[in-house]
Amino acid sequence: MINWSDEWKKFRESSSWSQELMNKGITSEEYWDNYKFGDRNEEYNRLAGYPGHLIGRMLRLVSSDSSVLDIGAGAGAYAIPLAKEARKVTVVEPSKGQIARMMRLADREGLENIEIINKRWQDVGQAELESYNLVNAAYCFHMPEIGEALQKMLDVTKGSLFLVSLVDHGFADVYEKVFGQEKSDSEYIYLYNMLHQMGYTANLEIMTRIYQIPLEMQMEILRSSYDFTRGLEQRLMDYLAATGRLVKLDNGVWVKRRYKDGMIWYQKD
Ligand SMILES: C[S@@+](CC[C@H](N)C(=O)[O-])C[C@H]1O[C@@H](n2cnc3c(N)ncnc32)[C@H](O)[C@@H]1O
Repeated sequence: MINWSDEWKKFRESSSWSQELMNKGITSEEYWDNYKFGDRNEEYNRLAGYPGHLIGRMLRLVSSDSSVLDIGAGAGAYAIPLAKEARKVTVVEPSKGQIARMMRLADREGLENIEIINKRWQDVGQAELESYNLVNAAYCFHMPEIGEALQKMLDVTKGSLFLVSLVDHGFADVYEKVFGQEKSDSEYIYLYNMLHQMGYTANLEIMTRIYQIPLEMQMEILRSSYDFTRGLEQRLMDYLAATGRLVKLDNGVWVKRRYKDGMIWYQKD
């Protein structure tokens, strides 16, 4: 039988994200603290329709009595809309830079019901947590012991657990052909199978977002991960054009994107 906990470790170690941190010699927290694109994240999410239908599904289960836990909340893409509806949102977020971005948005919206635990999920003790009506963890699975991490999420959920994870960013061919990076598996399948092996058969929905972003924004995102030479930039432009991804509009050149998010959800009886 496949041991999904071991498979997860292999997957994480070989992932481009772990490789990038290793090459830069930084921790995940340092990456997010200094994430230059972070201040444009809200604008990007708006164009990309994120979290769009994903947060819509969660909000249906939240009322003014609800307590919510948002793990790896980042700049608050979920925490802010959840805090507008719930009684209280507890956020677990290890990066101080991300917390500052989120709190700027919370202040702008006049929200005072967000409580912050500035730690990695694996370092949070049970005594710091309560039992929540809804627990969400989205794109934050920098967690080596995934079985333990998921069990702790289930233990503090009295209603629903949502895990949002990558199915397909739609750029695998670009990373392969232009940056010479190998295609990797999708993260969501490991999370789904790990839960199943732990005895929790969850629900899974794959949601597709089709959108366009300005070319300069796409370049800014890529520059936060890759060092560009003129030659590399030209190769990228040629490839994007050849694959029909560039659209010329009156206000400049835009890049067509297609992104698939996996929403894994488990409802406790
Ligand atoms: C890609 S952002 C996602 C933010 C938000 N959940 C969203 O979907 O927009 C990843 C966030 O997860 C956080 N993170 C990474 N590893 C974590 C861990 N082990 N525990 C808690 N948060 C973590 C990072 O600090 C970062 O803010």
